[in-house]
Amino acid sequence: MTESVLVVPGDGIGQEVVPAAVDVLSDVADLEFFHAEAGDHVKRETGEALPEETYRRASEADATLFGAAGETAADVILPLREAVGSFANVRPARAYPGVDALRPETDLVFVRENTEGVYSGIESEVAEGVTTLTRVVTEEASRRIAEYGFEYAAENGYDDVTIAHKANVMRTTDGQFLDAAKTVAGERGADYEEALMDALAMHLLLRPEEYGVVICPNLAGDMLSDLAAGLVGGLGLLPSANVGAENALFEPVHGSAPDIAGQGVANPAATVLSGAMLLEHLGYDAEAAAVRGAVEGVLAEGPRTPDLGGDASTEDVTAAIRERL
Ligand code: NAI
Ligand code: MG
Repeated sequence: MTESVLVVPGDGIGQEVVPAAVDVLSDVADLEFFHAEAGDHVKRETGEALPEETYRRASEADATLFGAAGETAADVILPLREAVGSFANVRPARAYPGVDALRPETDLVFVRENTEGVYSGIESEVAEGVTTLTRVVTEEASRRIAEYGFEYAAENGYDDVTIAHKANVMRTTDGQFLDAAKTVAGERGADYEEALMDALAMHLLLRPEEYGVVICPNLAGDMLSDLAAGLVGGLGLLPSANVGAENALFEPVHGSAPDIAGQGVANPAATVLSGAMLLEHLGYDAEAAAVRGAVEGVLAEGPRTPDLGGDASTEDVTAAIRERL
C-alpha cells in the first residue's frame, strides 16, 4: 500500500525546507505526496490562513508534513493539529557530533500532552482588570499521554522516563496528571522518576545526560522543550511530531524565519528529521534510520548552512544528505 502524505510548506523558509525534505523522503520510500497551501500568503489572497480543503486533506492523509506559517501560525497549526486528532507532541532534542552544543551529551525526548492544561483556551475577563484561565486536566488525556510516553521510551531504547509536574501546588489538576501517569507506569511495570517542573528545568540544564523521555503537561512541555533546544545548538535541528490515534503531523520546531527567507540558506535538517519521524510513524523504520544517519553524517562532516557556521546553501546540504543515502 502506498501511503498518502499531505505536504503543506506554508510561509517563508517552509517553502525551501519542505521541498528539500520531500526529495529526501522520495529517495527512500514509495509515498504519494499531495500538496496543499496554508499561511500568511493564503490569507493575503483569500482572507483565510487555513483553507477548509487543507484541513480536510490533513484529516484524511496518512501523515502530513508541515513547514511553518508566519504571523498566522496559531490560525494554521492549532487547527491542523486538531485535524489529525493529535494528542501527543513529541519533541526530540539531541546534540549531534560536529554541531556546537551547550550540552553535547543531550539526548532528550519531550512527550507533551497536546490538548488541554493551561492551553485549554478557556479564558475570561471576569471584571475590569481581572482575568482568569481554566486549567483542564482529564484522567483520560493524562493516561493517554503517559501510555504514549512509556511506549515511546520502550520502543526507542530510553531507560530514563521522567514525569514532569507541579502537583505540590496544582494539587488537583497536576495531582491527577501525576496519579494517572504513575498508574500507567505501575500497569506496565515501568521505572520512572517524578520531577517538579521548575527544578527539572535546572537539572536539564546542568545534567541533561541523566534524562531520556520526559512526559509533560502541555505548557511545561512547551517550555522545557524550548530550553532543551538551547542545549543542543539551535532551532535548525529540531524536529517534532503531533501524533493522533490514526494520523499525525510532522513539522520542524522553527518558524518561517523571515530574516533569511528567500536566500536559500535555511538549514533543512529539522524538516528532514521531521520526515524521518514521519517515516517511522508509517512503519518505515529502516528508511527512517537511514535518513537520520545521512543527516548525522552531514552535520558531522559538512557541508553546513550559515546557522551552523558554514556557508553552504539549503540545496548543497540537501544534495549531500541525498548523496549519503
Ligand atoms: P523562527 O524559528 O522563524 O526564527 C528564529 C531564528 O532562528 C531566526 O533568526 C531564524 O533565521 C533562525 N532559524 C529558524 N529556523 C532556521 C533554519 N531552519 N535554518 C536556519 N536558521 C533558522 O522564529 P521567529 O523569528 O520567532 O518567528 C518568525 C515567524 O515564524 C513568526 O511570524 C512566527 O509567528 C512564526 N512561527 C511559526 C511557527 C510554526 O509555524 N509552527 C513556530 C514558530 C514561529
Ligand atoms: Mg513553543
